[in-house]
Amino acid sequence: MSAIKGLAFDLDGVIADSATLHFAAWKRLADELGIPFTAEDNEALKGVDRINSLRHILKLGQRALPDDEIERLAARKNGFYVDAISTLTADALLPGATALLDEAATRGLRIGLASASRNAPALLERLGVAEAFEFIADPADHLPKPAPDLFLACARAFDLPPQAMIGFEDAPAGIEAIRAAGFRAIGIGETPLPRADVQFATLADIDLAALLA
Ligand code: BG6
Ligand code: MG
Repeated sequence: MSAIKGLAFDLDGVIADSATLHFAAWKRLADELGIPFTAEDNEALKGVDRINSLRHILKLGQRALPDDEIERLAARKNGFYVDAISTLTADALLPGATALLDEAATRGLRIGLASASRNAPALLERLGVAEAFEFIADPADHLPKPAPDLFLACARAFDLPPQAMIGFEDAPAGIEAIRAAGFRAIGIGETPLPRADVQFATLADIDLAALLA
């Protein structure tokens, strides 16, 4: 019997091919503001919550704005992103997501979502995988990554100790959050995540039986 009883997933860039849509929405906003913003700049924003992402972009542009203007711009970016995900289907699931979620359920593992995105529940619905998640940590109630809180909320919901949990993340801030939670940290994606315990290009490359052994 494996000591691992629960899995906690990030969403954008792990389950869903939506990291590019966050980037496109930020890029559109940065263009409007006249702030140069590249895909490379965007790497630092992966896993980072909405307001802190915007603050990062404003810093790149050496722009200081009042809080109410920052709120307005964050809402504007979110409008772009909400429009972009409104037409998504299961085609936007990343390779291996459905198969891994199915196999985990068959094995009786508890499955939680530890996404920083307030759009996560709506996106899971669009992708048709909302039912696979027994618990979704609410980013409104928790400190943003790299704090461990979203991951710890999953362990708490399942009444499991951190040693019984594995976390899956595509971003450095998320890997730090998993490590701080005391879970095993699995990196996903092509961008090297040196702080992950182990990394796979996609969820499809994971042998769950081997991971649990
Ligand atoms: C994370 C994304 O999952 O969610 C970030 O990696 C995004 O790019 C963050 O900024 C917050 O998302 P939202 O949908 O609440 O703006
Ligand atoms: Mg992510």
